[in-house]
Amino acid sequence: MSPSLTVARITADQGDVFRELRTASLREAPYAFGATLEEALSADAATFDAKAALNAASITTTTFILYTEGHPAGVIDACFDDTPARRAFVSELWVAPAVRHLRGGELLVNTASEWLARGGAAEVYAWIADSNRNAMRFYERLGFGPTGDHRPTARAQDQWESQLVRHVTPLPVPPAG
Ligand SMILES: CC(C)(COP(=O)(O)OP(=O)(O)OC[C@H]1O[C@@H](n2cnc3c(N)ncnc32)[C@H](O)[C@@H]1OP(=O)(O)O)[C@@H](O)C(=O)NCCC(=O)NCCS
Repeated sequence: MSPSLTVARITADQGDVFRELRTASLREAPYAFGATLEEALSADAATFDAKAALNAASITTTTFILYTEGHPAGVIDACFDDTPARRAFVSELWVAPAVRHLRGGELLVNTASEWLARGGAAEVYAWIADSNRNAMRFYERLGFGPTGDHRPTARAQDQWESQLVRHVTPLPVPPAG
């Protein structure tokens, strides 16, 4: 991994960075996500500010940002769903093309997985569009495998996505302070 790549949890004042990364990902890789660029562009700044504040503090949903030399260059969301099983998911993964193949994606997935494991997760799930062969290979290299669940994508009902899962070891919550 390049020593210049780092990952940190989003902070409450990073609504603008969040918006920038989300719109960049939807512009560059629209095939990979459920939302559309138009939706992201039409959302006002306050929406991103509120999401950043929530994801900076919540114990059920968060965002991690990848930095290269201090500049935001990638993003991933992690959350526990609100079912009784409280399943853990990673989603919205994106790494800027200029810094791909430097293990930034791996660092994002592993950091998000560790956060979920500290929240009690024993499995981490992800939905990947079947047509996104690159992402499918990427996740398989990281130890994810198919659960057998398929569903039409939110973006196009004639396209499908598959659910992948990776087992993780639940980790102790770090001491406060
Ligand atoms: C999928 C994605 C996040 C991967 O990001 P990345 O930072 O390039 O990921 P990594 O560098 O950790 O790994 C990518 C590949 O580079 C390889 N790689 C990493 N470091 C390497 C090195 N030093 N030498 C050679 N190969 C290397 C990895 O093995 C992996 O190969 P694979 O795709 O054949 O499995 C990125 O391609 C992306 O943003 N794509 C568009 C959006 C998308 O599809 N998101 C997923 C939505 S589900």
